[in-house]
Amino acid sequence: MSDLAFQQCINPRCRATVDLADTSFRCPACGGLLDVAYDWDRLPVPTSLRHFEGKWATRTDPLDFSGVWRFRELFPFAPDERVMTIGEGQTLCQRADGVAAYVGMRPGCLYLQYEGMNPSGSFKDNGMTAAFTHARTVGARRAACASTGNTSASLAIYCAATSLMRAVIFIGSGKISYGKLSQALDYGALTVQIAGDFDDALRRVQEISRQLGIYLVNSVNPFRLEGQKTIMFRILEALRWEIPDWIVVPGGNLGNVSSFGKAFAELRDLGLIDRNPRLAVVNASGADTFYQLYERHGLRWNGGDFDRAKLDAYMKAMDVGDLRADTLASAIEINRPVNLPKALRALDQCGGVVREVSDTEILDAKARVGAGGLGCEPASAASVAGLLKLVKEGIIAPSDRVVCVLTGHLLKDPDATVAYHSSDPKTFDEKLGKRGVKRVAFANRAVQVPNDLNEIIKAIELYA
Ligand code: F0G
Repeated sequence: MSDLAFQQCINPRCRATVDLADTSFRCPACGGLLDVAYDWDRLPVPTSLRHFEGKWATRTDPLDFSGVWRFRELFPFAPDERVMTIGEGQTLCQRADGVAAYVGMRPGCLYLQYEGMNPSGSFKDNGMTAAFTHARTVGARRAACASTGNTSASLAIYCAATSLMRAVIFIGSGKISYGKLSQALDYGALTVQIAGDFDDALRRVQEISRQLGIYLVNSVNPFRLEGQKTIMFRILEALRWEIPDWIVVPGGNLGNVSSFGKAFAELRDLGLIDRNPRLAVVNASGADTFYQLYERHGLRWNGGDFDRAKLDAYMKAMDVGDLRADTLASAIEINRPVNLPKALRALDQCGGVVREVSDTEILDAKARVGAGGLGCEPASAASVAGLLKLVKEGIIAPSDRVVCVLTGHLLKDPDATVAYHSSDPKTFDEKLGKRGVKRVAFANRAVQVPNDLNEIIKAIELYA
């Protein structure tokens, strides 16, 4: 666009600025992560968040229809004519009294922000439309990502729907659910399955993007995180612009939490809100690097001067011990989150906490979300499982106003759901038992009946 938007190193001691069109996504001076930054004083910023309600009247404009781009004044890095939208962000913030009861909260206090309604079925489309728009402004012809499945589905759908770029996706072998793999294949992405896990794939894709000049859409790309800010804007809108007490989100590569923290910090700086909600990040216990570093090792943002030696030593120990992430919540099966410094900053800004939950806790929470009328994939339910823990600990009060982000659709990983509810011990053991899940609390087992009218009627009368 112009010098009104640029990229900038997040390290307060460095603060190097980088051209908006640069696609290396690393600070050239210190190697740190970059933000997209704006010269807000010279930009037309709305004086009240209510301004965005007006966009509902102009929904025939695809940019105002998009649940991402109708907030574009809050991430103004691209001219309107360059925006690539496929109608993302038509999502729902639903009051969830059934789930509230499960976690020990009062009726009317818990909301679920359901991002499974996006075109590719996960929150990733919020960020992909933004990264894709940036890729288009710099003339990219190919885009790549490493993925546990949702980023790849999202990249693939944008490439397919717009025919503007070729998608190259990297996945760890045997590490992706069929729902997600089927999307990448059907949308026509070049799918590269490498021997290794997400962490291996992410290292490789960064190397390869650099070498071949392919545009990278993993969340180290700060333009993606600009789009993901709008999840928070939609939550505020659904709550009539009142600030909730807590936002609870699963943590994988820590892009979401980083983006949410930036959203609230900017709204505060712009005078559009007067307080921040608190942020809770929930790791799976088999992929709990952030929990370990933040809660057990006391790693903090510390004004940008965080203890890098501690972080590096932790990562090195994982490498030396070849410690691999291992959780049924495959979307967050990540041990080396690239956005960790940004996530530390977000928790500093928003008084954050981190928790870890077991696969059994995740699957039980997932079943309660389903029974409450909004299905989600296992990783998404980590937010609800984490909330249950935080209410038990007394950190979140039953009367607090809480929003859990449900990041992906139920049908992303049907295997996990069917195994959970299965009456067949073999199926259960194959998918869950072998991975350490011993018993589940809310299985809704299929009823086996002979093909006989009377027997079928008997079964219905007995169970329904
Ligand atoms: N929930 C779902 C459903 C996800 O797919 C992911 C990340 C996360 C949560 C974690 O979000 O990285 O912002 O902390 N999935 C990535 C992928 C890694 O490749 O699809 P985060």
